[in-house]
Amino acid sequence: MTTQQQNDFLTLTGPGTPMGALMRRYWIPALLSSEIPEPDCPPVRLKVLGERLIAFRDTGGRVGVMDEFCAHRGVSLWFGRNEESGLRCPYHGWKYDVTGQCIEVPSEPAESGFCNKIKLTSYPCAEIGDVVWLYMGPPQLQPPKPNFEWATVPAAARFVSKRTQECNWLQALEGGIDSVHVSFLHRHDLRSDPLHVSQGAEFTRETDARFEVIETKGGMVIGVRRPATAGKLYWRITQWIMPFHTMIPPYGDNALNGHAFVPIDDENCMSWCFTHHPARPLSAHELEVMRNGGGIHVNLIPGSFRPVVNKDNDYMIDRVAQKHHKSYSGVKGIACKTPRSRKAAVRSRTAPRRTWSRPTTA
Ligand code: FES
Repeated sequence: MTTQQQNDFLTLTGPGTPMGALMRRYWIPALLSSEIPEPDCPPVRLKVLGERLIAFRDTGGRVGVMDEFCAHRGVSLWFGRNEESGLRCPYHGWKYDVTGQCIEVPSEPAESGFCNKIKLTSYPCAEIGDVVWLYMGPPQLQPPKPNFEWATVPAAARFVSKRTQECNWLQALEGGIDSVHVSFLHRHDLRSDPLHVSQGAEFTRETDARFEVIETKGGMVIGVRRPATAGKLYWRITQWIMPFHTMIPPYGDNALNGHAFVPIDDENCMSWCFTHHPARPLSAHELEVMRNGGGIHVNLIPGSFRPVVNKDNDYMIDRVAQKHHKSYSGVKGIACKTPRSRKAAVRSRTAPRRTWSRPTTA
């Protein structure tokens, strides 16, 4: 068991925390390009590593991500007007460009240069693989742009979705790299989900799983072997890539899957779901399954990124299906089962916002 201090060290990611500083050294998937589909479209709110931000696409198609709140009286710029190469606050008309620079204060004469002194915090963006990525770290330490395989294959070979997950990023990641739960929690899904059915999936139902772990420069490779047929072993290799990416072992020629578990704040994360095939376009059938919440993707409440199946409806558990071995958990689908520790559940109901303090050594 981790101590409270160790847990805080790993899961608090706001400004000024050690894990927050580490994550800010990487490009972070922040929003789908389709959320801001065209120039001058409505801005969108987002929260990343505890920071409340606004994203918009200006008249020239450039993407800006910056502080959500106007520097004047703190109005949310979500209410702003996206027009003529900038986002204008609706209260007194201050206008910001995609870098967060204020470019107009209507109540001040332009020659005063007043607006030049106003700038919101903003972050560099990159649009790669249908995703807007953010770099929130020190400018002088900006790393190369992301080049994950899923992000660089042709668009027809890729499907990307995201959903909120009501647990912290580490709880989600633990599930992502834990092969054993698949043999229990998903054992029926492995036969019913069209994107998972395969001989390998049959072997994965075997509960006698043994682990071997190798640390790499960029994360960890987790090998798990299970008995297969004719005295052979079936190995599945999961990868964890710093700081929050995972790659799920493939089954035969099925498309590959992966996740990024990005902290929204200290109690919630955005679970990004990437499906791609490195050598062929995804089929119409695969796309249809995923758009209907199959594979690692889920159905969402319209207008949100919250799954239809969520903790407030007890994940729509079906006790009959559970009892009669149609579903091990009674919760339908692979991606709708969210780990949530009792400790985290209690803490999120009762505790004020936590701050990080350096662990003491014995
Ligand atoms: S609050 Fe935004 S311009 Fe005044």
